[in-house]
Amino acid sequence: MDLNKRAQLVRQWVYQAADQIHEGLKNPLIVKTKSNPKDLVTNLDQSTEKFIRSQIKTHFPNDKILGEEGGQGQIDNLQGPVWIIDPIDGTTNFVCQHNHFAIMVAFALDGDVQLGAIYDVMNDDYFSAVKGQGIQRNGQAYQVPYDDLAISESLIALNRQILLDDRYHAKDLVSQSLGIRYNGSAGLEILNVLKGELSLYAALALKPWDLAAGVALVNESPLKLTQLDGQALNLMQANASVIAYPSAYQTFRDLYDRSVQEGD
Ligand code: IPD
Ligand code: CA
Ligand code: CA
Ligand code: CA
Repeated sequence: MDLNKRAQLVRQWVYQAADQIHEGLKNPLIVKTKSNPKDLVTNLDQSTEKFIRSQIKTHFPNDKILGEEGGQGQIDNLQGPVWIIDPIDGTTNFVCQHNHFAIMVAFALDGDVQLGAIYDVMNDDYFSAVKGQGIQRNGQAYQVPYDDLAISESLIALNRQILLDDRYHAKDLVSQSLGIRYNGSAGLEILNVLKGELSLYAALALKPWDLAAGVALVNESPLKLTQLDGQALNLMQANASVIAYPSAYQTFRDLYDRSVQEGD
């Protein structure tokens, strides 16, 4: 099946999943912890992933699936057709705010991301990209508003650990910027960069499902998305990652390299 048909199906699944989330929010959430007390999962994270997995299995029974709430039996390589799902990105926001979370789905072939979608559920704002065909926002062609953006003329987002530890001269970076904003959903931060609301987002330990849909979108834009040290992402592991406009990216990378030389 061609990529555009897959992308159409993804949009249907994601909207259906969002309807189920809206419905589910009418009842109290069942919240559990995973690896630590701050690592939350809800009944709706689990049911959303289950729903999207069931759709994939119906339409593409031979494709592999990597999903955050998939539990045992996750895949060990990206060979062949692979779907990558984050059913609710920003679970802590979802639990605490019932807002500021996204559904993310991507499809990769032999590790090369072919399509991705990030849906800002409460704002009903759907970003998607098919490889080589540009970005769409709610089904219309979307242009990233800037070719470039400097730190000095923009807001940036850095995750808590980078800031708390002042890693990679983070405070210097924040001082150079117009300010810092952080909303707690990697997918929505990536959209904020694509919308030109931020020039840069950097975070530690982003998982394949935090990044894969963003890769599809970023590849159709002037933005850069790499590991913090400039290496290409590896979607089989967690990546400390930076997504940014070219000038902002270079500023970050220069500070990063300086911190490495200083033994940080
Ligand atoms: C998390 C969010 C958060 C990021 C974490 C992710 P989740 O995803 O994207 O912004 O800092 O690293 O794990 O667990 O809410 O899907
Ligand atoms: Ca996530
Ligand atoms: Ca999640
Ligand atoms: Ca999680």
